[in-house]
Amino acid sequence: MSAQQMMKVFVTRRIPQEGMKILQKAAGMCNLSVWDCDEPVPRAELLKGVAGAHGLLCLLSDKIDTEVLDAAGPNLKVISTLSVGFDHLAIDEIKKRGIRVGYTPDVLTDATAELTVALLLATARRLPEGVEEVKNGGWSTWKPLWLCGYGLSGSTVGVIGLGRIGLAIARRLKPFGVKRLLYTGRQPKPQAQEVEGEYVPLDTLLSESDFVVVSCSLTPETQGLCDQTFFSKMKKTAIFINTSRGAVVNQEDLFKALGSGQIAAAGLDVTTPEPLPTDHPLLTLNNCVVLPHIGSATYNTRGVMGELSANNLLAGLRDTEMPSELKL
Ligand code: NDP
Ligand code: DGY
Repeated sequence: MSAQQMMKVFVTRRIPQEGMKILQKAAGMCNLSVWDCDEPVPRAELLKGVAGAHGLLCLLSDKIDTEVLDAAGPNLKVISTLSVGFDHLAIDEIKKRGIRVGYTPDVLTDATAELTVALLLATARRLPEGVEEVKNGGWSTWKPLWLCGYGLSGSTVGVIGLGRIGLAIARRLKPFGVKRLLYTGRQPKPQAQEVEGEYVPLDTLLSESDFVVVSCSLTPETQGLCDQTFFSKMKKTAIFINTSRGAVVNQEDLFKALGSGQIAAAGLDVTTPEPLPTDHPLLTLNNCVVLPHIGSATYNTRGVMGELSANNLLAGLRDTEMPSELKL
């Protein structure tokens, strides 16, 4: 293939080696340009890097909007994102331009569900506070009323968005002795039978659940869903967990709900913005556990995500079937 025929590919970040190796093997067909850094590509560099590209491999932190698509120009035929979430992509505009999209569903479901359970237990049983007390000398003796939290046994868990990850979370929580598993979404799911899930309206889920777990995708309907009205319907003893996207939550309302005792505690793996500034009010609260968006962060999962995103990209360049194509 002559240099002129070579397709141009822009990769917006250093991705796992497993993915890079696949891309490097395809060096004969594409001219690879990588923002070879662990930090996000600055917007100006993204716009420059994508110019004339046939393929773009991006991350959830890259906003792929009309400006980026215009900067890429008419060559662009495939966008592969190293994520299952695709709220950072201007899907309508991408569809209009006939660009194919690859993403990474399924391969991160187990890791993300596992992290969600870990976050729920850490929040409900106050693990970060306990660890801190051991270190700062606050642990004076065994005390009957000290650092008590909430257990899953006999509880009601409500899952908002029983998709791939929501179901995997429910499967993992049931063996802890959860009595009722409620869920809500756009329609009932046949697969909910496996976890004896009861499809209920959102209000019922909020008023009856001891644990409310958000695992839906971020869409115009779910943006800001968890607001003051939402929290006011929850039990005062309930725990709120979000591992979907930060923008599903109105963080000011969450801060008030946590501070006023409207709800017991919250565990967040996702925030707005990311990173959350270190002086953010939520970080002053003992009853709020915040993680740095590590749902899918196991070595193996990230390696497989890297492979899948590279293979999606190459399939898009070759006009062949993608391992995981988003149906637009
Ligand atoms: P799925 O598409 O399988 O699940 C998304 C679920 O959201 C579906 O069940 C969908 O319901 C539901 N949903 C959509 N709109 C609404 C609504 N208005 N109210 C309630 N539920 C709704 O995706 P995954 O389970 O694979 O991933 C879910 C999300 O998790 C991703 O979009 C991403 O944002 C996030 N994520 C976060 C990670 C992390 O590191 N913290 C890791 C991986 C993913 P329906 O089927 O009826 O449309
Ligand atoms: C995703 O894939 O959408 C996550 O947020 C990161 O794995």
